[in-house]
Amino acid sequence: MGDYPSPDRMKTPRLLIPGPVPLEGRVAEELAKPASPHYGKDWVATYRETQDLLRTLFRMRDAKVFPMAGPGHVGMEALVTTLLGPEDKALVIDNGFFGRRLREMLDAHQVEAFSIHGRWGSPPDLRRVEEVLSGTYVRAVFAVHSETSTGMVNPIRELGNLTHEYGSLFVVDAVSSLAGLPLPCDDWKVDAAFAASQKCLGGPPGIAPVVIRPSILDTIDSDRVRGWYTNLRTWDRFSEEWGEWHPQPTTISSNVFRAFKVALELVFEEGLERRLERHRTVGRAYRGALRALGFTTVPQEEDASDTVTAARPPEDIEAPKLQEGLREKFDIFVSGGLTELAGQILRIGHMGPTANPEDLLSVIEALGSLMKGSETGNAEKAVEVATSMTKGLTD
Ligand SMILES: Cc1ncc(COP(=O)(O)O)c(C=O)c1O
Repeated sequence: MGDYPSPDRMKTPRLLIPGPVPLEGRVAEELAKPASPHYGKDWVATYRETQDLLRTLFRMRDAKVFPMAGPGHVGMEALVTTLLGPEDKALVIDNGFFGRRLREMLDAHQVEAFSIHGRWGSPPDLRRVEEVLSGTYVRAVFAVHSETSTGMVNPIRELGNLTHEYGSLFVVDAVSSLAGLPLPCDDWKVDAAFAASQKCLGGPPGIAPVVIRPSILDTIDSDRVRGWYTNLRTWDRFSEEWGEWHPQPTTISSNVFRAFKVALELVFEEGLERRLERHRTVGRAYRGALRALGFTTVPQEEDASDTVTAARPPEDIEAPKLQEGLREKFDIFVSGGLTELAGQILRIGHMGPTANPEDLLSVIEALGSLMKGSETGNAEKAVEVATSMTKGLTD
């Protein structure tokens, strides 16, 4: 189990929403250090090392990497504005809240977009994707990897193959998947992706890492790209022309950035494969234990994300009551459903530092206690499932 959880993590409240996550001790310490300049020799070294760590993490060998200051949305908007204009078409997988947000972003930039609608929690119909791609040239296909609103993963490898078959670019939202689920961008033909510091990466909110293939960025017609901050050509120009001193176009909080880098170092100290395995184990255990309690997960088991679980309680119990009970009686914070699923489900984050057996057991025990009297669930069985399925992590 290595360093998980560190002693700081054992304190309540337990923040088990699907991001931001609580910070590991070393990350929090770095964040609290005195501020330092966001330029100069020392800063450039930190910045370049961070880019290298991210390039390795996204598994995009020759990626141009831009650790942008801002939330995940800034990465999303940067890829939309840099790659597309009103003269372009795009296709978007719209089967959850964040798929819909991608669509909204494309609409805001007046990009003509085709949505592949799917039931929330169900994978997209790939035949429908192919139908659209074979009928119309779209410049880019957008998909969310781990759909945080439904706890499901979209079939990124299959979408990458299909997208490339029809000569389009493939852009992935890796906000709740990077460093929690496998995402080998080169192997899965992902051309550009963005993430956010505050989820599986275990950093404070505030950095949106973006990767893009150089062959794409270098051949974009500059006249077509709108915007300045979210224009990746701006970031690229600063990286080259100001690279020795100030490799990013604006101020970045040195504390947030350096704390984020420490969080990335922790990923590599644990080892990426080991970390993915930890998420796999904890994700499965959450779903197994919640089923024992009478919950139904929103996606099918084969489509479930190992970084966030979305599940419906048995019919005689209301999800918001459980959420409130966890908070009021146990000091445990989880999330509820968004828009279409509001009031119907619980969403529990198990990402980065929160993918651990102790947090899992505390939630399952607390839910078992809140659900006493429910006909459907079996609290003891749920604890047994949670314990036995994570045994490898506690040995
Ligand atoms: C899949 C996904 N995409 C995008 C975002 C937006 O990230 P941010 O709130 O950092 O802008 C989130 C946030 O939860 C997310 O889960």
